[in-house]
Amino acid sequence: MAERRPPTSRIARSARIGALVAGQGARAAGGRLTDRGRDEDARRAAQSRRYARIAEEVVDQLGRMKGAAMKFGQVLSTVDLPNLEPEDRERLKEKLAVLRDQAPRVAFKDVERVMREDWGGRLIRGWDESWMQLPFEIGDRIGRAVIEAKAGQTVIGDSTTVLLYKLARAAVDAQLARDPGRREIVVDSDNFPTDRYVLDGIARERGLRLRWIEVDTSSGVTPEHLAEVVGPDTALVVLSHVAYRSAYLADAEELTRIAHDAGALVLWDLCHSAGSVPVRADHWGFDLAVGCTYKYLNGGPGSPAFAYVRDDLQDVLAQPIQGWMGTADVFAMGPEYRPARGIRRFISGTPPIVGMLAMEETLAMIEEAGIAAIRAKSVALTSYAITVADEWLAPLGVTLASPTESEERGGHVTLEHPAMREVTARLWQQDVIPDYRDPGGLRLGLSPLSTSFEEVHRGLAATRDQLKSVLLERAGLA
Ligand SMILES: Cc1ncc(COP(=O)(O)O)c(C=O)c1O
Repeated sequence: MAERRPPTSRIARSARIGALVAGQGARAAGGRLTDRGRDEDARRAAQSRRYARIAEEVVDQLGRMKGAAMKFGQVLSTVDLPNLEPEDRERLKEKLAVLRDQAPRVAFKDVERVMREDWGGRLIRGWDESWMQLPFEIGDRIGRAVIEAKAGQTVIGDSTTVLLYKLARAAVDAQLARDPGRREIVVDSDNFPTDRYVLDGIARERGLRLRWIEVDTSSGVTPEHLAEVVGPDTALVVLSHVAYRSAYLADAEELTRIAHDAGALVLWDLCHSAGSVPVRADHWGFDLAVGCTYKYLNGGPGSPAFAYVRDDLQDVLAQPIQGWMGTADVFAMGPEYRPARGIRRFISGTPPIVGMLAMEETLAMIEEAGIAAIRAKSVALTSYAITVADEWLAPLGVTLASPTESEERGGHVTLEHPAMREVTARLWQQDVIPDYRDPGGLRLGLSPLSTSFEEVHRGLAATRDQLKSVLLERAGLA
């Protein structure tokens, strides 16, 4: 089932971004060097240099600008975005121009006000005045702006891990009640650890089996993979929309359809897609989904996760952490648990207000910009990163552990080399902050609202320099 891609001497096939930023609408370079002859090799190298020059010009230009506003606004005017009218673009740029730095810091400013005025000033009155409704209000905003879900189906709550547990347990219990033969949970071997561990625990609690889809760490779950393993035994399928390591962008609509045709429920992990790629929860027929808010929604450390439960499932599912906040009458304090109707029943205890408010600034920017424009910038950023890495890092032995085609790729890029653990540690000391993911993966999380092309350029230049130093030191030449 796992498909290993052949080794490649260059990072990637797609070198679209140089032409894209220059507004030329050029086609992808196509093909791998290993597949071609010498002339082709020279042509490809010249083209790559040309793209890098163009990109560097844009980078220099962007480097002279300040703040998240210009990082975003400049890209909107540089890259051709057909769905944005000129006056909308101007309005957006003006609005964004009031933000003077990156989104996480903007969010922090708002938190300071909340601490001083709301928490410090209103004390417990805040619960009656607004906080009680916040998990649903912000949930609905995420539903509308980020995952295309109509109101009343999205709620903010605990961590992703806890929400995954609550929804997965509720789903398998409902399936077992309907058909005791449905004793399998399908999950892929490269899903995020929390997903695999939580499902393993649920399987043991309920006497179920895990059915694994084996996938390559450079790609992800395809419809063919899923079709092979689902059937009359499947209770639940749990998949990530964007793979945390490779950034592989799953065909969520098709995979949901395949699971439904087999009578299974599907729980989507949207941690790496919410806020970076289009998600159409209602349109694609999702049953359940969870996602975190501290990646592309910039909620900061400790910001709570969100859960989506399709409206017709809400009163059928019984979630296992029966807390007072999920009851029909929260302050009745009655002798037994009576779950609320609707989405409220999926919360358990007191919601984390401060972490929730921190993401409001980013949500406002997403509402203004729209996911389509954000995705366009995200594709431009990842394509640019791949083009530059192809030029600078491939000759040092780095390979791409993310899809080459942008339609199959989410908002991050993973570059692989055995020395990347050490390179990452050195980069952190210089305030260049990628992630490291085994095996040998340097992961660039390019949040489109707050990352500029110039930062990508500088980050990759630092990566090249550090990798060169490590290699020279290891060879005893430094
Ligand atoms: C894909 C994915 N799922 C789940 C989680 C776990 O989230 P949490 O720490 O909020 O429980 C993460 C965390 O990074 C993640 O990336």
